[in-house]
Amino acid sequence: MLDAGLAGRTVLITGSAQGLGAALVRAFHAEGAYVAALERDDVANRALAAGLDPGGKRIRTVHADLRDLAATEEAYRTVRAWRPVDVLVNNAARPSAASLWEITPEEWDEVFAVNLRAVFFLTRAVAGDMRERGHGRIVNMASIAGQTPRPTGAAYGTSKAGTIALSRVFAAELAGDGITVNTVAPAMIDTPMVRSVAPEALAGLTAQVPLGRIATPQEVARVAVFLASEETFVTGATYDVNGGALMR
Ligand SMILES: NC(=O)c1ccc[n+]([C@@H]2O[C@H](COP(=O)([O-])OP(=O)(O)OC[C@H]3O[C@@H](n4cnc5c(N)ncnc54)[C@H](O)[C@@H]3O)[C@@H](O)[C@H]2O)c1
Repeated sequence: MLDAGLAGRTVLITGSAQGLGAALVRAFHAEGAYVAALERDDVANRALAAGLDPGGKRIRTVHADLRDLAATEEAYRTVRAWRPVDVLVNNAARPSAASLWEITPEEWDEVFAVNLRAVFFLTRAVAGDMRERGHGRIVNMASIAGQTPRPTGAAYGTSKAGTIALSRVFAAELAGDGITVNTVAPAMIDTPMVRSVAPEALAGLTAQVPLGRIATPQEVARVAVFLASEETFVTGATYDVNGGALMR
């Protein structure tokens, strides 16, 4: 626990059912926050929530597919009717390892629908309400793939570079309204997304990390909690959580 002043605050987390999203739900719940967990895998999402908060007092699950903007906006209306959102964490992503030679128009569109279009429209909806209350914290999950080219992931890396740019646009626009917007750029995290990488490829990537290992989801979640803290002078920043894989 960071004691970030989040007790009683309400946090909306996308892609909450597994991996980093599940660690974010645990971390914000441990800070005493109310958590709205938005996810397309309703079964896994409910199981996570039931395990952490059996009475359903401080964690609510919301079922939506972020590719569907109308469904996402409807899900946000459900959350808002429960409690006004103080913190938004745009965490969900559509992974894609296709190189620039392989990527199809369909895969390109799907990656951008989840990783950028949904982030933009959900952030705009939530930020509109935050402005009226004069307070808000927004944290977007990008990736080292958006900061430096990787051999694979043409659409993924480009969408994550877009996340970083979009965060700065919102940060500048919302700075006068008491709302901070920041980005976290992890390298590899020990989640199902990474465990799907072939072991020899993973070993090769890990060897390039100065700290000599990949991150735990908890280590990345702690940075998100810090960026969502009540007391902060940080906005428009990109926090690298990469074990030294990119020093800039
Ligand atoms: N795992 C890594 O090594 C790594 C590295 C850098 C950045 N990241 C970023 O961290 C974030 C979390 O990654 P992760 O490894 O936990 O991913 P993950 O694939 O393990 O989990 C993503 C979650 O998002 C949900 N999701 C995906 N598409 C959705 C949609 N259309 N609608 C609703 N929910 C959807 C999935 O069901 C899943 O629960 C992502 O933004 C990712 O790009 C991850």
